[in-house]
Amino acid sequence: MNDIRIARGLLKAAGETMREKCLKGKAAIISDETVYALYGCALRDSLAQAGFDVSAHAFPPGEASKTMATYGDILRFLSGSGITRSDTVVALGGGVVGDIAGFAAATWLRGVKLVQIPTTLLAMVDSSVGGKTAIDLPEGKNLVGAFYQPHLVLIDPGTLQTLPPSVRTDGMAEVIKYGALCDKELFDQLPFEETAADSVIARCVAIKQDIVGQDERDFGVRQLLNFGHTFGHAMEKLSGYTLPHGQAVAMGMALMARACAKEGLLDDEACRQLIDKIAACGLPTQPAYPEEAVWQAMGQDKKRMDGGITLVLIKGIGQCYLEKVSMDRARDMLRAGYSL
Ligand code: NAD
Ligand code: GLY
Repeated sequence: MNDIRIARGLLKAAGETMREKCLKGKAAIISDETVYALYGCALRDSLAQAGFDVSAHAFPPGEASKTMATYGDILRFLSGSGITRSDTVVALGGGVVGDIAGFAAATWLRGVKLVQIPTTLLAMVDSSVGGKTAIDLPEGKNLVGAFYQPHLVLIDPGTLQTLPPSVRTDGMAEVIKYGALCDKELFDQLPFEETAADSVIARCVAIKQDIVGQDERDFGVRQLLNFGHTFGHAMEKLSGYTLPHGQAVAMGMALMARACAKEGLLDDEACRQLIDKIAACGLPTQPAYPEEAVWQAMGQDKKRMDGGITLVLIKGIGQCYLEKVSMDRARDMLRAGYSL
């Protein structure tokens, strides 16, 4: 199980915390330009004071950077910095940084040590935990990647202070997801006050760790974490990856709730509660694209196996479950989501 720490001030204590974990030698920070401008100096100082030989590489922010080209640049940077298998890659940023830096760490020299320092709500509650790393291809999102567990995850909720409100809102989609999946108490707490941020993040991390601990490689129960993602990923793809992940997941959860209500699996009141919650958190509840386009975009979903697909269905708040369905049945569910 990963060593995941959550505390304000952890960013500035990153160097000594990494030393406690017996990490030493070179530390290669990978970040995006926005996050590096905000937190790069503090992290560099902390690592240098703890005795690390520090280098850094920052790329333009946003999903458009999660590409083969950026990945290649990072590998060349690691080569130029002389990063060996006894050194450490430190990913400082949101899910884009964590995913691409994690993939570079997984593949450079067949794997070097990795520390994740997430700075968005989404990355704190979801992407920095569980070891999924990836880059996008024009053919689809996250199509190339690896399961690669970080040595350490340092979550400093203080870094959320500089997060643009719209990015914080995107992260709320994953928090709602955990509540809808298995935690009605968390669900009822949303949207949460700033003072509750640390405990909400800790709760989400605990849920994710529990699920990943049962199914690291995503062949079973981990697929529950894709609630809202099957339809959501299709809409992200349709947007050319300009639709933020959180908004796409929110639309996907609302579609699935309507589909389940229409099919009599979820009662109308619970469906309304979920859709109202998504809206109350500032997220969209109506799909951004027509049904046929979403269906076509689902064609290359990674979760397709043996001619079918595993959908995450909902029968109550805090009660999601997996069902392997034929592609015809998936089509019916999507249609039901649009018809209510
Ligand atoms: P992001 O990494 O693009 O960050 C969003 C924006 O916020 C960027 O412009 C960034 O520069 C800025 N930012 C980050 N931290 C900041 C801070 N503290 N202050 C000010 N600005 C800050 O987006 P995201 O929503 O964090 O992550 C989305 C990505 O995560 C997607 O690529 C998605 O596929 C991936 N993801 C991965 C997993 C996983 O398990 N690996 C899970 C969910 C999502
Ligand atoms: N965010 C989905 C997963 O980690 O499995």
